[in-house]
Amino acid sequence: MAGLIVPGGLAPCTSPRPKAVSYYRGAGYTASARTPPQARRPMPRKFGSCRVTARFHVAAAATVEAPPAQQASYSGSGRRVMIVGGDGYCGWATALHLSARGYAVSIVDNLCRRTFDLQLGLDTLTPIAPIHTRVKRWGQVAGRDIDLRIGDICDFEFLSEAVQAFRPDAVVHFGEQRSAPYSMIDRARAVFTQHNNVIGTLNVLFAIKEFAPDCHLVKLGTMGEYGTPNIDIEEGYITITHNGRTDTLPYPKQGGSFYHLSKVHDSANILFASRAWKVAATDLNQGVVYGVATEETMADPLLINRYDYDGVFGTALNRFVVQAAVGHPLTVYGKGGQTRGYLDIRDTVRCIQIAIDNPAAKGEFRVFNQFTEQFSVNELAAIVQQQGAKAGLDVQVKSVPNPRVEAEDHYYNAKHTRLMELGLQPHLLSDNLIDSLLKFALQYKDRINTDLIKPAVDWRKTPVSSGTMQAAVAGKH
Ligand SMILES: NC(=O)c1ccc[n+]([C@@H]2O[C@H](COP(=O)([O-])OP(=O)(O)OC[C@H]3O[C@@H](n4cnc5c(N)ncnc54)[C@H](O)[C@@H]3O)[C@@H](O)[C@H]2O)c1
Repeated sequence: MAGLIVPGGLAPCTSPRPKAVSYYRGAGYTASARTPPQARRPMPRKFGSCRVTARFHVAAAATVEAPPAQQASYSGSGRRVMIVGGDGYCGWATALHLSARGYAVSIVDNLCRRTFDLQLGLDTLTPIAPIHTRVKRWGQVAGRDIDLRIGDICDFEFLSEAVQAFRPDAVVHFGEQRSAPYSMIDRARAVFTQHNNVIGTLNVLFAIKEFAPDCHLVKLGTMGEYGTPNIDIEEGYITITHNGRTDTLPYPKQGGSFYHLSKVHDSANILFASRAWKVAATDLNQGVVYGVATEETMADPLLINRYDYDGVFGTALNRFVVQAAVGHPLTVYGKGGQTRGYLDIRDTVRCIQIAIDNPAAKGEFRVFNQFTEQFSVNELAAIVQQQGAKAGLDVQVKSVPNPRVEAEDHYYNAKHTRLMELGLQPHLLSDNLIDSLLKFALQYKDRINTDLIKPAVDWRKTPVSSGTMQAAVAGKH
């Protein structure tokens, strides 16, 4: 299938025509992690569609220091986990977490997230290394190899080869366009988001059905799929009695952007595939993730994770912390009563491991609400103010017009017990804000571009003409 062009015309990779690279190392390449021989053929690369497909097997030459991984337990026992979107924020931390614990990991990513930054003039606060460097460094630091495949899951030929070659026991699917504001920039980006996310997920389902029928799909959804109903939010399903009859049905969804709606469509497609083809699936309706540090991403500067604080990809908490670090008032959108679920990145990686270790049954579509605490935007601002004071910062708060269409004062009570029952022990925000975020904002203060923090996308406008320059917050001035 021809790939979809990323709006703006740039190929979804940092280098337009990467050369096929193949590094091999004999020693240290564990049998469980070794890519089967048939995977070693060079992959065809497709340039016409702006999709670039190349395969990189990256392995390091030597172990240079004691890896954190070697102190970790090896509960993974070589189980094979494909991480789609493994160069992204959650995916990178998860890939290292699992690799450190003895899972054989393959990262699949087309690097479109890095392209979005290039197109919009954005940048992560923390300086992240290219994916090849990251993977190679991990091999050196941890003595564990990660299989890396650069390509687009909307390209079924690429995906099916990757799945057949790696033979995953589980696919963790993070590989989507994940910003609500990005999906509201203009028509092209709304269409891109839904195409990329819905078709990519459909391809993953077909690849599992066809080539890995026993594989467990762990798919990242979002708490934003539910919207903000005036009743308690359940974990995926609700039992309803109507006109004297009772049924348990998927919980009603009310996505608040074209991005959130792409996740709603994904969930419906996965539910159907689990019924029709007996796919085992877990939908993780994740809350807003914060934090930069996991044990593995902090093991070396080249492994550091990204920290988005801009008006398109940054979340309220990340923005507030950066604003606190530079003495800018925290900009609360509207009344600030918007309430959502949150979790630390260290809990995200644990949740994924828990989901993999306790797989859904074949034909089961299981839904977990993946967050640990809920806060309103005003509560977040108060926590940043309080914790900022501990770090010697004078933090002010101000309200700005809300660019989104959303309830600013509403009931919110979402269940989130199933991951706890399976053993999740949460890190709590008020105990960890300084270590998780503030210390990074202060350490990389010189890289902060305050122009990037302003609201960049207005939900009420979303033009059919290109909205890139309006959203290119760095380019406004
Ligand atoms: N970060 C959060 O707070 C949060 C909250 C709720 C849900 N989620 C979900 O978790 C997942 C990961 O989020 P994230 O913050 O790590 O996002 P991210 O943008 O940092 O990472 C996504 C990765 O997927 C890759 N990708 C996108 N489309 C692809 C495609 N067609 N083929 C191959 N690779 C592709 C991107 O290049 C990127 O590296 C997303 O599905 C997101 O919707 C994230």
